[in-house]
Amino acid sequence: MSKPFIAGNWKMYKTIPEARELINGLKRQLSDLSEVDIVVCPAYTALSDVSDLLIDSHIQLGAQDVYWAESGAFTGEVSVLMLKDAGCRYVIVGHSERRKYFSESDETVNKKIKAVLAGGLTPIFCLGETLAEREKNQTISIIERQLKGGLAGLDAASVAKLIIAYEPVWAIGTGKTATPQQAAEVHQFIRSWCGQHYSGDTAQNLLILYGGSVKPSNIQELMQESDIDGALVGGASLDTASFVQIVKGAV
Ligand code: PGA
Repeated sequence: MSKPFIAGNWKMYKTIPEARELINGLKRQLSDLSEVDIVVCPAYTALSDVSDLLIDSHIQLGAQDVYWAESGAFTGEVSVLMLKDAGCRYVIVGHSERRKYFSESDETVNKKIKAVLAGGLTPIFCLGETLAEREKNQTISIIERQLKGGLAGLDAASVAKLIIAYEPVWAIGTGKTATPQQAAEVHQFIRSWCGQHYSGDTAQNLLILYGGSVKPSNIQELMQESDIDGALVGGASLDTASFVQIVKGAV
């Protein structure tokens, strides 16, 4: 079994002082816990400060998005090199909020994944169905479309370097978590799809996170599923006590 992987997606929350306070709390309470890979993904403005605070910590840094070009006249965007410069090792790509509010398509997600890999960082590739799609029994076909589109043109060696996060849109920020069985069914599909399209080893070693209303009270049951390797946590990662409990509950 792989080491559990817990990432906090802070979304558009936390000023720099607030980010510093949260990180100091996490460092105090998680410094001895090396059995879990822990990543925090603050807003761009707090990345450098958080990176400085994490220098003596095993907690790692990620960003919430990126633009695929190396540099250029793209007002408002941030490149992979800039994220590396700020201390990031991970980048969330294709989060459903980006898809919904900022018109991200499978095609732009694919460009971002390629840019992140080319820059030597690890993409956390998010996918998931909406409630309407689930109710129409389209979950698997939607996931397959997102996998095909997001991973287009990548070979097995590249896919082996990324992390996938299954985040059913209806479970994000709603308090409604997928049951461990619902999540496991999709995780199994993702793993076997990657086995068919890349290699058995790639599929077996692939980290697949679950995201969507993960909290201290449900992390343990989710982690009991063998195909769930960790979690991408939104709301509950904004509070020191709840994020610490989630990390500890993942062991
Ligand atoms: P949530 O968000 O934990 O607040 O549901 C998860 C996410 O958007 O990654």
